[in-house]
Amino acid sequence: MLSLGNAFDEAELDAWRDRAVRLAGEDVDKSGYAVELKIDGAAVSLTYDDGVFTIGATRGNGSIGEVVTENLRTVRDVPLRLIGNHPAGRIEIRGEVYMPFDAFEKMNEARVQAGEPVFANPRNSAAGSLRQLDPAVTARRPLRFFGYSVAAADPATFDFRTQWDLLEQLAAWGIPVAPHRARYKKMEDVHKWAHNIEHNVRGQLNFAIDGAVVKIDSLRLQDDLGVVGGRDPRWAIARKFAPDIAETKLLAIKVNVGRTGALNPYAELEPVEIGGVIVKLATLHNEDLIRAKDLRVGDIVQVKRAGEVIPQIIASVPEKSEPRGEPWRMPPNCPSCGTPVERDDEEVAIYCPNVACPGRRLEALVHFASRGAMDIRGLSYARIDQLIAAGLVNDAADIYSLTGEQLLSLEGYAGKGTEALLSAIETSKAQPLSRLLGALGIRHVGSIAAQLLARHFGTIDEIARASSAEIGSVRGVGPIIAEGVVRFFSDASAMQLVEKLRAAGVNLSEPHQVAAGGALAGKTVVITGTLPTLTRPKATEAVESAGGRVTSSVSKATSFVVAGAEAGSKLEKARSLGVEVIDEAELLSRIATGERD
Ligand code: IVH
Repeated sequence: MLSLGNAFDEAELDAWRDRAVRLAGEDVDKSGYAVELKIDGAAVSLTYDDGVFTIGATRGNGSIGEVVTENLRTVRDVPLRLIGNHPAGRIEIRGEVYMPFDAFEKMNEARVQAGEPVFANPRNSAAGSLRQLDPAVTARRPLRFFGYSVAAADPATFDFRTQWDLLEQLAAWGIPVAPHRARYKKMEDVHKWAHNIEHNVRGQLNFAIDGAVVKIDSLRLQDDLGVVGGRDPRWAIARKFAPDIAETKLLAIKVNVGRTGALNPYAELEPVEIGGVIVKLATLHNEDLIRAKDLRVGDIVQVKRAGEVIPQIIASVPEKSEPRGEPWRMPPNCPSCGTPVERDDEEVAIYCPNVACPGRRLEALVHFASRGAMDIRGLSYARIDQLIAAGLVNDAADIYSLTGEQLLSLEGYAGKGTEALLSAIETSKAQPLSRLLGALGIRHVGSIAAQLLARHFGTIDEIARASSAEIGSVRGVGPIIAEGVVRFFSDASAMQLVEKLRAAGVNLSEPHQVAAGGALAGKTVVITGTLPTLTRPKATEAVESAGGRVTSSVSKATSFVVAGAEAGSKLEKARSLGVEVIDEAELLSRIATGERD
């Protein structure tokens, strides 16, 4: 699949036309031009055999892409069968998969609710959605498609003369074609069309474009002109638009606190219109970025929206910004609770370390109740805010002591809604430990790490007790996650929260996953000392793959202890409790023979 050369203004477009005329040896204006929007999505190729969709692929690097047929089948704009008078044999249709702005924003909102990371822009999200391993995931993404060309078709059925006819034909086969297409004989009219698209149409579209494409309409001329260096066709060019940039004043740099305590600086701007939208805020990412761009309060700054949903500050305009204020610094104390902030060595992010910080509390509670975490339906952002303001909820455990009477005393609660909320709260108590771990908002612990930890350790007490090395040796869990976990549980207020949750009856363990037919199914094993051949992670893996669970401390519930050289206090404890002690050889033979006791 080819790429396109660029023309950034009318003169460059004229130069492209002049060159084409020279090379073709005839007046290109006679053929005329087909003009189209340049959709900013992910290029794909759709193969139809006898009118039936058979192969779908991404563009990749142009020569080699990925086959994503099953994913493309879930895109509702991609017809599984061409309609009307479709060609016999094989035909390949090319086009762009994209995500409309409104659907993109709705999807991101839902992701925030579910505690999942948001996508940066519709293009990345379209491309990422196509490359999912599970078509069911792709199916839930609001993807759309526009076709713009036909390749590899049987010449007997491929008898269009012009790009314009080709687009009409695509539409007749049931392939969506982008709006605002046109054809003109004169380059002058192409310029007018492009001007209108840039200044009037672009801001109104519900999908991202990164310019327009001007194509020589005659397919015979296209053939004659061919391709430069195997990549850019001489018969088409991208007419790029000026980026959506505006200048405005940086009024203030403010900081808010996220649920994990990360401090996020953002810019307050003098309201300015960019591409038909009034922009008042822009993200600033982190302190290093602000310093790298040397942004200072009072500066005149360039702000960009172009496709990105969240406005960004590109740079300050120094000649317009005199006299300048002081370089900006992250406040030394959390803007919400006043606790001195901390910076991780390997990270640029700065954190409020106070687990009880009120600014973090709201965000943290919203995350706790969200769909991907404890899934307490009906406990919305607004309601949590209200419960905090009423003094009814300070931490996650307080949610579990809410009464119907308390809720009914608040504005906006009626009998049915209150009952439903209380029952959702009650139901959430039984969520597995993995959900709770993810819900607690431990730094670096996302849903995957939470599952790995919950499965490995089984109970929250085991996790709280484990050392950084023990946690870091769990497969799939690295030292950064381990550090986050150890730090979380070494905080006294975190442990108080765990105790409150326990007292409220919240489940603190992971349902035991019994490896079907595993020789150690249901066994809780402690490994201690240096084993003759197996490293600790290997021994753990061996036990787990046989359905057993490895824990770090010996209790009456321990099925047996595997002891190696220099086993210390755990061996003694096992003996004093009368827990069986075996060596590595015995462990391996139990796993191998499937012996149960
Ligand atoms: S024509 C001739 N038409 O732009 C080869 N491309 O920069 C180019 N694109 O990878 C195909 N809208 O994904 C063409 N109406 C349109 C387009 C379009 C978007 C993309 C396409 C290509 C990229 C080249």
